[in-house]
Parts: sequence; C-alpha cells; structure tokens
Amino acid sequence: AAMSEEQLFRPNFHFTPKSGWMNDPNGMFYYKDYYHLYYQHYPDDNVWGPMHWGHATSSDLVTWKEQPIALYPDELGYIFSGSAVVDHDNTSGFGKNGIPPIIAMFTYHNPKKAEAKKTDVETQGIAYSLDEGLTWTKYDRNPVIKNPGARDFRDPKVSWDAEHKQWNMVLAAGQETYFYSSANLKDWELLSTFGEGIGNHDGVWECPDLFPLKVQDTDETKWVHLVSINPGGPNGGSATQYFIGDFDGKKFMVDENFKDEMQKKHDFWADFGKDNYAGVTWSNISTSDGAKLFIGWMSNWQYANEVPTETWRSAMTVPRELRLVKSDGIYRLVFRPTDEIIGHRGKKHKEGGVTVNEETKLVDSETIDLSRAELIFDISDIEDGGFNFKLTNSGGDELSFGYNGNDKNFYVDRSKSGKIDFSKNFANTIITAPRISKATSLSGRILLDKTSIELFYDDGLNVMTEIFFPNAPFETLSIQSDDDKLKLKHVEIHELKFN
Ligand code: FRU
Repeated sequence: AAMSEEQLFRPNFHFTPKSGWMNDPNGMFYYKDYYHLYYQHYPDDNVWGPMHWGHATSSDLVTWKEQPIALYPDELGYIFSGSAVVDHDNTSGFGKNGIPPIIAMFTYHNPKKAEAKKTDVETQGIAYSLDEGLTWTKYDRNPVIKNPGARDFRDPKVSWDAEHKQWNMVLAAGQETYFYSSANLKDWELLSTFGEGIGNHDGVWECPDLFPLKVQDTDETKWVHLVSINPGGPNGGSATQYFIGDFDGKKFMVDENFKDEMQKKHDFWADFGKDNYAGVTWSNISTSDGAKLFIGWMSNWQYANEVPTETWRSAMTVPRELRLVKSDGIYRLVFRPTDEIIGHRGKKHKEGGVTVNEETKLVDSETIDLSRAELIFDISDIEDGGFNFKLTNSGGDELSFGYNGNDKNFYVDRSKSGKIDFSKNFANTIITAPRISKATSLSGRILLDKTSIELFYDDGLNVMTEIFFPNAPFETLSIQSDDDKLKLKHVEIHELKFN
C-alpha cells in the first residue's frame, strides 16, 4: 500500500509545525530547563501568508512540543522575524512580583503600506511574557523603532553585552546591518552601520546575529556577525554568510586577515548547502565550553512554497553547536550537531578498513532504518582520491553525496532523489562546497532523516544541508571510489531511536 504523505515526508527528528506554513526560527531563548523555539508561521495555509510566531519547547533540543501560537498579527502589521531575551534585572520594568520578564523584539510588516508601495513598511515592536514565554503582551507604545526610510528594515536580534554593559541589537536594512544599543529594551540608539564594500551583496540581507565567542584553545575572544542573504547563496538562493571581527560597544570591525581572505575567496558560509537559512543563536545559554547553540530553517526561498508536502511545510535543521577556530591563520566557524543526539543512538553497524573501489553495500534497511540514522567515517589519507555514497530504494530513487578529489569539492546530487519537478531550481545543479581543510585525513558525520541530509565534514569546517522527497524510503547505503587505494579507516552507522 502507498505510504501517506505524513509517513513518507514528516521528519523523524526535525521540528515541523503540525499544520500550516513555517519559515525562520525566531525568539530562541533558554529558561528554567526549557529551550524555546518560535518561528515564522502561517497557520491557515501551507504557503507563506500573514505571519504569526508559532512556538515549540524542548528539554533536550531533540524532541519538541508544539505550544499555542505566541504572537498574532495586529493593526501594525504581520509579525516578522525577531528574537527574545530574559531580562533578569528587569531593566525594561515589565517584570512583576520578582518575575523577570522575557522580552521579544520583532518586526512589524504593514501589508497595507507594502501594497501602497510606501517605504516605511517595516518597524520594530516588542512584547513581554511573565509566564516563561507561553503568553505575550505587546507593548502599548509600539513601534519602539520607527522606519528611517528603508524599504527593508527587519529581523532585530537582541543580546545582553556583558563587556559593554548594554543591550545590543542588530537588524538588517537592505544590504547592510544596523547596530543599536539600549539600557531598557524600549529606547534604542543607532550606533553604526555595517556592510558596505564587504561580503556578498547579491541579495537582500536578513536575519543577522552578533555575539562574542572564544577562539577555541586560546584566551582570545572575537565577535561573530551572522548575516543571511537571499538570493546570493553559494549554490543559489538563500544562505547565511558570516564575518569575524571586533565590536567596541559601537562599531563592528572585521578582522584584517579575515577581510583579505574574504576578498580572495568568498567561502565564509555557515552552511554551503541549499537548505539552511535565517539561522540565529539561542540567548541565555551556551555549552560548558562556551559554544553557542544555533538552528536554521531547512529550506530555500527558491522553492520553499512548492515542496511536495501538503498539510504542513518546512522543517528546522537539527540544533547545532557553533564554535570559533583558527584554521591556517584564518578565523572560521565550525558547526556540529548538539551532543544530545548521541543519547539517541540505538542499533549500530560498524566496520573497519573498508577498501571501496567497487561499489560496496554498507548497510540496508533490514539492519538500520536509513530514515533516522547517523553515519560516521574517517579516511586517513584522501590524497587526490574521492568517494561517493549512494542511498537507493527499489523504486529507483537515488541520492548521492561525496567528495571529488580532482576539484576538492564536497557535493550532493539530488537530481534522481524522487520528487524534484515542483521547482526548476530544486535539482538543476549538483550542490558543491569547496573543501576548507587542507588536512590529508578527512572525517564525516552525517545525519539522515526521511527528507533531509546534514553533512558535517572535518569537524564542522564544511557543512551542507539538503532536503529531498523520495517516492519511498531509502533502503540501501553503498559507497564507491574511483581511487582503488581509498580506504575508510573506520565506518559506523547508528540507527537513531526516539521513544
Ligand atoms: C527571511 C525573512 C525575514 C522576514 C521573514 C518574513 O526568511 O524574509 O527577513 O522577517 O522572512 O517571514
């Protein structure tokens, strides 16, 4: 019997709304043992529409519980993307009886003004919650930031700046970012702008983030500035670029070496794949070694409204830990799945020393359910060799991913992965990423769900995230190499279990 759309496409371990449309993650904060995730949501249809903030909570970043809608559109407009912080010291004055308020800051997008082709379509508003993020009261003096005459003026990301003792906020305006500060989360002062002459400008800048981060294994701290851009991504459409530098409480200055490297080769992407957009970090939490937690929207504006799910649309990426390293003298971000996923490993298939000249089957669905699996492998000496993994089903669908040693690119080919005709931009090219590491050894950690693959190479220096829609679940995983000496030192495939 044919599987229902729900059985076939609803992810096993990625957040999706029960019904309706979803895009960007919004307002993430951690408080009293819960991770909160809000999201751009249109509950009445499976395409983009009047934006609300949907809400979900999790205690482990793996399983999510959908909560009632948090913010509804009102006479000032739709509720576009934004952020939330815990106001521990009640600087805003919205707290009551010793309960610190949670403050959300978001963009109001006024559809009437948009239709009239006005420039002051977007303004910034705030709301507060006194019940740990469940219900919200909008500030009666919204907007707190009026539009300065910019057509695109949105996606405020607020954070507490412990170094300069102020609330920082960064938002996107056209192809720049604007930095603000505040003492009370209500009155905002514009400090500076950023973006001219640096970075990718092939599209509109959206959903920025700004935070300090320790450089791994040093005492140095640098500031990280994430900026999503649409279009202009390395494989077309939406993607997230980043800048590393310093913030003096007023101005963000990009590190000189970083800038030179960026001018030579623009490869500073949070993710090189096509399906990780508008990602930002959680407030009020970092890992014990100081990593930030990040999540992105697992789609692309090129085809998000057309993907073949009917009752809901879009999933989030797995939450990721984000760290800063220095690799060959250049600051780089590395992203890895959060540790919590490890606790969900169940059945395991393990092999050592596989030589992979001929196409070799690694595992099939009799042993491991490949719709919820983690593949880990190491190669000691990649030299000029390459490898190609292939997921197949008996219906002839096929998803391949691997590394091409000649051009030193990682790639994903979803052109035969099942349903692809819904958009001409979905599978028209092979998705590639230039390898950043120059090491002779190469490692991969890959997460497989029913409709997505997330590839973390070289400890997170190269990340790719792609969605796909097979006509039946993938049943077999095989590997092949055109280099007859290529050896997988170690391969391990885990089935992930969720209750
Ligand atoms: C990014 C974005 C944001 C905006 C939101 C609207 O995907 O375009 O800039 O706030 O989506 O839903």
